Amino acid sequence: MGGEVMMKNTENAYGWPAKTFHWVIGLGMIGMVVFGLWMHEQPAPGKFAYYGIHKSTGMLILFLGILRLRWKLKNTTPKTLGHHNAQKHAARIVHILLYVMIIGIPLSGYVMSMAGGYPVSFYGLFNFPNLIGKNKEIGSIAHTIHGFVPIFVLGGLLALHIAGALYHHFVLKDETLKRMLPGKLIKNKK
Ligand code: HEM
Ligand code: HEM
Repeated sequence: MGGEVMMKNTENAYGWPAKTFHWVIGLGMIGMVVFGLWMHEQPAPGKFAYYGIHKSTGMLILFLGILRLRWKLKNTTPKTLGHHNAQKHAARIVHILLYVMIIGIPLSGYVMSMAGGYPVSFYGLFNFPNLIGKNKEIGSIAHTIHGFVPIFVLGGLLALHIAGALYHHFVLKDETLKRMLPGKLIKNKK
């Protein structure tokens, strides 16, 4: 049972799709924040090519995020480990808010571009539709959200999330971090 590669989650383990989604989307989101901040500081008009890459990759993450959420909702979620109910609740709330970030941040970018009347292409292959048309007010609200939330809200949640993972691993010494890693890394089982 221990080293088996599973697809579905169980009461105490994540299957390979959940793990793959976690790391691809998680590292993708962190990369997008860093790239977003960097591209914003580059000189125009050169930076608009980087904007195209940022927008395409963001739409890809939005799509993967929707697939991930569907997969999660159709699956069992492994029980949160730990002794204190308050900490378990906190972990679950942070996970829910992280899902809100994964969908909400790229969506705010998409809304900002649509409301600004800018095209959103997928690596030059096709354009996503403009569902709302040009709208100054919506554009400026989405722009504020997109500049603030990735750094301050996602940043704060990730500080808690990563500190929590390290606390489980090094202080509580439980399986929390190991069960999110690729199966082959878990080999120190009795
Ligand atoms: C880079 C360092 C990261 C580490 C060490 C880490 C670690 C973990 C671990 C150990 C779990 C499993 C928790 C449990 O079993 O109860 C988890 C779950 C989760 N992580 Fe991360 N994570 C990281 C980054 C991220 C990022 C960047 C995001 C999103 C932007 C993210 C989103 C989530 C979500 C939504 C869950 C809940 C999964 C579910 O049960 O449906 N993580 N993470
Ligand atoms: C997937 C998650 C995404 C993350 C984490 C993210 C993050 C960021 C960050 C941190 C910035 C810099 C903000 C600043 O310096 O004020 C930024 C800028 C930007 N993002 Fe995103 N973004 C994502 C997805 C998207 C998507 C899907 C679009 C559009 C379809 C988009 C469009 C833009 C644009 C146009 C800017 C430049 C705004 C400006 O010049 O003021 N982003 N993004």
